[in-house]
Amino acid sequence: IKIKVQDYSGDVQELEAPTDMGLSLMEFLKANEYPILATCGGMALCATCHVIVEDGMDLLNDPGDQEMDQLDLLPNAEFNSRLACQLRLNPDMDGMMVRLAADEE
Ligand code: FES
Repeated sequence: IKIKVQDYSGDVQELEAPTDMGLSLMEFLKANEYPILATCGGMALCATCHVIVEDGMDLLNDPGDQEMDQLDLLPNAEFNSRLACQLRLNPDMDGMMVRLAADEE
C-alpha cells in the first residue's frame, strides 16, 4: 500500500508500506527514520507517536479506550488525531496520508 507522510518541516513523501509483516504505523515510520520517540514502545501510553490523519480517517479502525484517553490529554490533539502505534498496517489503509504531530525532539 502507499502512505503519504508529512514530516515536521512540511515535506511530504509517499512510501510503500508492507501489510504482511504485522507492523504498526509507528514501527513503519520509525523504520523509515522519522523522528518518532515511541517511548512506551507502542502501548498507547506516551503519545509521542501522535499523528494527524490528513486523508483516510474513514479507512481506520476506531481508537480503543487507552488511545482515546491519551488523545484526550494532548494539548495539540485534533479531531483527526491518532496514535500511530495503534494503527496496524493493513490493505484498507492504501492512500492514506498522515502528518507527524508529536513535539519534535
Ligand atoms: Fe507510545 Fe504510541 S508509541 S503511545
